[in-house]
Amino acid sequence: MRKVKVALGGKSYQVYIGSGLLAQTGRWLSEKGFSGKLVIITDPTVNKLYGDVLNQGLTKDGFSVNTLLVPEGEEQKSLETAGRLYHELTNCYAERTTPILALGGGVIGDLAGFVAATYLRGVPLVQIPTTLLAQVDSSVGGKVAVDHGQLKNMIGTFYQPGLIIADINTLKTLPAEELANGLAEVIKSAAIRGEKFFTFLEQNLDKIKSLDEGALEEIVFQSVKIKAEVVEKDEMDLGLRNILNYGHTIGHALESVSNFSIGHGNTVAIGMLAAARISHMMGILDGNEVVRLKKVIEQAGLPTEMPNLKSTEIIKAMKHDKKIRRDKVRFVLLKSIGNVFITDEVSPSLVEKVLVGDEKT
Ligand SMILES: NC(=O)c1ccc[n+]([C@@H]2O[C@H](COP(=O)([O-])OP(=O)(O)OC[C@H]3O[C@@H](n4cnc5c(N)ncnc54)[C@H](O)[C@@H]3O)[C@@H](O)[C@H]2O)c1
Ligand SMILES: [Zn+2]
Repeated sequence: MRKVKVALGGKSYQVYIGSGLLAQTGRWLSEKGFSGKLVIITDPTVNKLYGDVLNQGLTKDGFSVNTLLVPEGEEQKSLETAGRLYHELTNCYAERTTPILALGGGVIGDLAGFVAATYLRGVPLVQIPTTLLAQVDSSVGGKVAVDHGQLKNMIGTFYQPGLIIADINTLKTLPAEELANGLAEVIKSAAIRGEKFFTFLEQNLDKIKSLDEGALEEIVFQSVKIKAEVVEKDEMDLGLRNILNYGHTIGHALESVSNFSIGHGNTVAIGMLAAARISHMMGILDGNEVVRLKKVIEQAGLPTEMPNLKSTEIIKAMKHDKKIRRDKVRFVLLKSIGNVFITDEVSPSLVEKVLVGDEKT
């Protein structure tokens, strides 16, 4: 097992990464001083696959387990579902000291995290992410939220977990598109802060896609390390944390203009390449680096071509993004692989050029 510490003073915690960790959860919770009742929040698919093994381990260590099920899907990240969960928590007499275990992907992590942050003004939270995206991205860093209508993550807070348990074994049952979704964020992490890690990806994507345990453990470990370092320096997302949005400025706009018919990982992949092209056209990023990025994205099974959407609509959507400053769209751009900077000085004509697929690289 490998460990990454997220160092946030009194709110510091560990991320455990390895195979077969679910069954050991009880021991770690006992070591942290918990006993008695706890609550698992999960969805039916994940519960069917991993509920028993987690449950048995916890029961063996003397815990009494309540499982609350939430149907699958982004639409469950709502105040309404949170309200239902508060009700169920009171029904099973959950107290201030009762830990909530969020077992599932990012939807469960964000929702259960939001509920843990607010129920009785906050109860202990343990993240047990089971998608690649949740292991490398959403479980780390303490952002918890629900959506408000069409507006994603509008109601939320920062609430750090006490422990994150990333069991690599769970990734073996992930549908291919969910794996690719997570890989987009993995590539993002390497592109912004991990030059060596990027080379590892170039050499190991086949292994990763065939779910080799060692390779999966390595990409989760490296991505979590990068995210932890960024979060440690900017927990509240006031500056540096923006670099985690690489590929997301255009990505979010594509998601919204396509009415969410293009998945997050796909839009981020296209967005990362588009941002790299902008940076190349500005004379900052070497053309070879753009080619390397494109290759890795393709090898991961992610798209690189702009979808057939109106560039005017995409630009409008970018201007509506909440990451906007003084009416200027803010971009995270590459200087080289592993090295980024943030700017709101990108000329609109360059953006337009990239969006209509008019560029040369
Ligand atoms: N908090 C953050 O910092 C942050 C960062 C990025 C994304 N997010 C959020 O994460 C959410 C997306 O998360 P996601 O991509 O994990 O999707 P998801 O949570 O919807 O999970 C995708 C699907 O995979 C299934 N699943 C989960 N684990 C599985 C497993 N091991 N085997 C088989 N099936 C499994 C789930 O049942 C679900 O149907 C979005 O709501 C997004 O806003 C949050
Ligand atoms: Zn993302």
